[in-house]
Amino acid sequence: MLAVPFSTSGEELLRSSVLKTKPTHVKVSSGYRARAGTSLSAGLGTVGIPHQWYNLIADLPVKPPPPLHPKTFEPVKPEDLSPLFPDELIKQEASNDRFIDIPEEVRDIYQLWRPTPLIRAKRLEKLLDTPARIYYKYEGVSPAGSHKPNSAVPQVWYNAQEGVKNIVTETGAGQWGSALAFACSLFGVNCEVWQVRASFDQKPYRKLMMQTWGAKVHPSPSNATDSGRRILQMDPQSPGSLGIAISEAVEVAAKNADTKYCLGSVLNHVLLHQTVIGEECIKQMEAIGESPDVIIGCTGGGSNFAGLSFPFIREKLKGKINPLIRAVEPAACPSLTRGVYAYDYGDTAGFTPLMKMHTLGHNFVPDPIHAGGLRYHGMAPLISHVYELGFMEALAIPQTECFEGAIKFARSEGLIPAPEPTHAIAATIREALHCRETGEPKVILTAMCGHGHFDLPAYEKFLEGSMVDLSFSEEKIHASLANIPQLVH
Ligand SMILES: Cc1ncc(COP(=O)(O)O)c(C=O)c1O
Repeated sequence: MLAVPFSTSGEELLRSSVLKTKPTHVKVSSGYRARAGTSLSAGLGTVGIPHQWYNLIADLPVKPPPPLHPKTFEPVKPEDLSPLFPDELIKQEASNDRFIDIPEEVRDIYQLWRPTPLIRAKRLEKLLDTPARIYYKYEGVSPAGSHKPNSAVPQVWYNAQEGVKNIVTETGAGQWGSALAFACSLFGVNCEVWQVRASFDQKPYRKLMMQTWGAKVHPSPSNATDSGRRILQMDPQSPGSLGIAISEAVEVAAKNADTKYCLGSVLNHVLLHQTVIGEECIKQMEAIGESPDVIIGCTGGGSNFAGLSFPFIREKLKGKINPLIRAVEPAACPSLTRGVYAYDYGDTAGFTPLMKMHTLGHNFVPDPIHAGGLRYHGMAPLISHVYELGFMEALAIPQTECFEGAIKFARSEGLIPAPEPTHAIAATIREALHCRETGEPKVILTAMCGHGHFDLPAYEKFLEGSMVDLSFSEEKIHASLANIPQLVH
């Protein structure tokens, strides 16, 4: 059994018994235990919500390299981060504790959509004629439609506890901005979002969603900040990037004492909050007597992938299971597979601490692929470290193959995936087809981290045949890598 305490409170049981009757794909036996070997998927009501987040750092044989101050190049001190983050999140960022308690109020809000379903993709298996058993953990049931509220809610909660009234952030796909706008609306905190230009233009309804929850939204690069104006002077048509949008939001937080900044991925505390996904999933798989042979997730900054896989890596380190852990990134922005492992800035302007990570260079502006949430030049330092330690592998897939997979998924399983998890789906299909060739009945677990209801213009492009694979330019990456700081570490 796992060390993480779970509970099934009366309220959760009530909720689960209501939910049990709804989706026909969720079959749960009378004792709240799903039966193994049937057509079931693990049920919404089979597990409770974890009481603690899991910190993988506690179990790693080598600790990850520290972030460095962008000017002195010395390891950052907590006070260096306090203009941007509340104390409790700074503590979590540097914590070596194995488990961190989830505040009761946060757990209470998690109950709006958690536990999320683990679903067996039987119809996709049939379509692919594979002996593999495919499961997906679906985070699209959250109010914003993805895994992002798992971290937005605690981040805003800790800020609100410390009296913060204004929060700024960036958003790539629009999912993180929506999640933060939702969380801020719960705690009466003002929210301002810099949305990457390409996504701002492609997804007007994401902007409206954020506005509905009360947030103010700017396209990035914008004229509202020095960093935005600098980029616009060089390239008035800039499609923007997460690195640029982060610079704009960080600049505003750094210049205004009453304003803090929240990040939707990359940092340790964000990955930590997302581990509710994996903790629930371990229990759900146990309940149906399954154990994954392969775990697959898409990586932008790495938070949904870490959220699902880190608790399984803990079990792997204990020698209990031995799944392959596989990250999937876009061929147009392949930080893990084509980047260098080096200290680099988290943003384009160089305001953030230097983090040791797989990076394409902080100046790298990826082509405007439809998976806006995966257009980030770097990878979470903790994932980069785990990759260096050899506990996981990575591959890059071009967007047309991803959307081909998404169409197969939508036409068999019904759900329309966000462009980001189409990468995980495409890699899952590759693995399942490999199983068809070898005859292996592997259990594949994949992270379906969001729905694509606001991403239909991307589907329109694919369906009308005008989506292209944006080629990855070696020249562009060499030019960008020439600008990363040259540190001897
Ligand atoms: C639905 C969805 N999936 C994945 C990502 C990528 O982020 P991460 O790698 O942190 O999960 C995003 C980012 O915006 C997203 O919106």
